[in-house]
Amino acid sequence: MTRIVYLNGDYLPETEARVSIFDRGFVMADAVYEVTSVLDGRLVDFPGHMARLKRSLGELSIRNPLDDDAYLAAHRRLVEENGITDGMIYLQVSRGNGGDRDFVFPPEDTPPTVVMFTWNKPGMADTPVAQTGLRVISLPDIRWHRRDIKTVQLLYPSMAKMQAKAAGKDDAWLVEDGFVTEGTSNNAYIVKNGTIITRALSNDILHGITRAAVLRMADEAQMKIEERNFTIAEAQDADEAFITSASMFVMPVVEIDDAAVGTGKPGRVAARLREIYLEESRKAAI
Ligand code: PDD
Repeated sequence: MTRIVYLNGDYLPETEARVSIFDRGFVMADAVYEVTSVLDGRLVDFPGHMARLKRSLGELSIRNPLDDDAYLAAHRRLVEENGITDGMIYLQVSRGNGGDRDFVFPPEDTPPTVVMFTWNKPGMADTPVAQTGLRVISLPDIRWHRRDIKTVQLLYPSMAKMQAKAAGKDDAWLVEDGFVTEGTSNNAYIVKNGTIITRALSNDILHGITRAAVLRMADEAQMKIEERNFTIAEAQDADEAFITSASMFVMPVVEIDDAAVGTGKPGRVAARLREIYLEESRKAAI
């Protein structure tokens, strides 16, 4: 089956969707994106992703070309046309085609480019990785200082992931001024004596939509939460570690820089949070 994708209001076979080589998303990484998961054919945390999209666009003064209802309708149509039960939807909005390459932004009436596509991941909530956990390495965080904006400048996270793979591991946690910021494409947490510890929100990290939901659910379940910095040494000495993202939900981390975390097996807090998050998300999905 040919995948149907969205491009500026059209629903097209992926082979027919074309974007200009002058698009600023292509030549300048001048674009923002969102990734929303689909469970049981419905969208998880969709209002959160829309709110963050609008914030990212606003921070970069990119005009928002669609309203929430139009984004929702397009997401739903792609789910249906591509027969997605479990999977992901990628949404990208770039500043559009500015004509000749120029550091100066194009005129304000330049139409942004909106692209959406799906990928099918049957049974993604039941991935066996959740039973074994991830092994991560630490790397310096040399990204720019507006990590709160979800831009498509993903070269360093991609290189960091490759370095982790080359070391035979799954992912990397990034470290700045001695403290963990976040994972290459996820937020990072540790658990000590039952307390969930994660870096506070600032421009240093992406404000994860899954993070917000998981912390709210943890709070509702009377779990203790501390939003503060932590080091790799503290993480290695923790009882548990885990990450969150729209594509991984809650995923245990069992090893950091070759040191086992806790028992070296996925911890109970992470497992419980994954269970609660998946259950609540399925219920609230739209
Ligand atoms: N990544 N931090 C970074 C740097 C991220 O790229 C992501 C998401 C997160 C988690 O955010 P959320 O819970 O809203 O997905 C944190 C997406 C999934 C990606 O790039 O594929």
